[in-house]
Amino acid sequence: MTPHLFSPIQIGPYRLSNRIIMAPLTRMRAPESIPTELMARYYSQRASAGLIISEATAISPQGIGYPNIPGIYNDAQIKAWKKITEAVHAKGGRIFMQLWHVGRISHPDFHGGELPVAPSAVAPKGEAVTYEGMKAFVTPRALALDEIPAIVEQYRNAAKNALAAGFDGVEIHGANGYLLDQFLRDGSNHRDDSYGGSLENRCRLLLEVVAALTRVWGAERVGVRLSPSGTFNDMTDSEPEKLFVYLLGQLNRFDLAYLHIVDALEGDIRHGAKVVELAVLRRAYLGTLIICGGYDYARSSYALAYELADAVAFGQLYIANPDLVARFKTGAALNEPDPATFYGGDEKGYTDYPFLS
Ligand SMILES: Cc1cc2nc3c(=O)[nH]c(=O)nc-3n(C[C@H](O)[C@H](O)[C@H](O)COP(=O)(O)O)c2cc1C
Repeated sequence: MTPHLFSPIQIGPYRLSNRIIMAPLTRMRAPESIPTELMARYYSQRASAGLIISEATAISPQGIGYPNIPGIYNDAQIKAWKKITEAVHAKGGRIFMQLWHVGRISHPDFHGGELPVAPSAVAPKGEAVTYEGMKAFVTPRALALDEIPAIVEQYRNAAKNALAAGFDGVEIHGANGYLLDQFLRDGSNHRDDSYGGSLENRCRLLLEVVAALTRVWGAERVGVRLSPSGTFNDMTDSEPEKLFVYLLGQLNRFDLAYLHIVDALEGDIRHGAKVVELAVLRRAYLGTLIICGGYDYARSSYALAYELADAVAFGQLYIANPDLVARFKTGAALNEPDPATFYGGDEKGYTDYPFLS
C-alpha cells in the first residue's frame, strides 16, 4: 500500500505510529543552558508525533551561539533532560536529541571574550544573537589540526550524556551553516590539511562524528540532518550536488536510523542558491529519508505517495499545533504560529497553543 502520513514506520529499533515528525526547533527558553519544567510540558504536549527531534542542544560551552539554549555537557543538564524524556515516554512518544556545535555562528560574548572556532578564519556575513542584542559576527579562529579530535570528543561525550538522559537516539546537526556544515562547504572551509580541500577531506569531520556516535548508540539510533540547498548563515559551495551526493554515498555505509534533509525553501531559490534536487538526494541515499521545509498536509502526502521521502518533519506547524497529528487526521483547522514568541519568553506562544477540544 502507498505510504501516507498515518502509516507506521520502522526507524531503527522503533516502530513509530505515524510519519509525522516534530522538527528540531530552537526556542531559547533554557536559562543557564539547563532545561526547565516548562520545556517538559511543551515536549510532552507534542508526544503524539511519530518522533520528536529536540531543539538543537549545545554539546559543549564552545558550541553555544545563542542566548538560553540548552546544553548536554553537565550533570544538571542530564538530570533536567531526563524529566523531559520521561514526560514524553509517559505519553507514548519517542524523542531524539539534536546535537549542536555552532562553530562561527557565535560571538566572543559567549566565550569570555575568546573567538568562536571554525574550519577557517572566515567571518560569516550577518549578526550574532547575543544577550545584549544583535552584534556583527567576528572573524572566527581556525581550529588547529590537533584540536579536531577534541571536537569529536565533545560530540561523543554529549551523545553519552543524551543516552544517560533517556533519549531514544541522537540527531547530528549537520545543517544550516553550523560547525559541521562549515567544514563541508568550500565557502567556509579553506583548510589545506586533511580536513579541507577535497570532498573526502571536507566530509571527514562529519563522518568521524558519525562513526564516534554510532559506537555510543549503535548506527540504528543515530540520524543526520543536512541542508544541501541551504544558504542560511552565509553558506555557499561551488558544487553542492557533487558534495552531497558524495557525502550520502559515505553515509550509506553506516545504516543509520535516518537521514533528515532540509529541502530547498523558496527563499533559498530566490537568493540564487544552487538547489540540489530532492530526487537526486533520494537516489543517492539508500536508507530512511525524512524531509522538512515548508511542508503542509497536501505537499507531505504527495511526497510520501510518490516516495520522495519516508517521513516528513514539520517546524512552524509544530510550534503552533501540539496535536498536529489529530488535526491532520480530522482535517481540523490549524493554529497560526506567532513568530514574535518563537525565540525566548515564557509559556506564551510556547505551551499555550490550544488543542482541539
Ligand atoms: C523557531 C525555529 C527554530 C528552529 N530551530 C532549529 C534547530 O534548532 N535545529 C534545526 O536543525 N533547525 C531548526 N529550525 C529549522 C526547522 O527545523 C525547519 O527546518 C524549518 O522551520 C522549515 O520547516 P517548516 O517550514 O515546517 O517550519 C528552526 C526553525 C524555526 C522556525
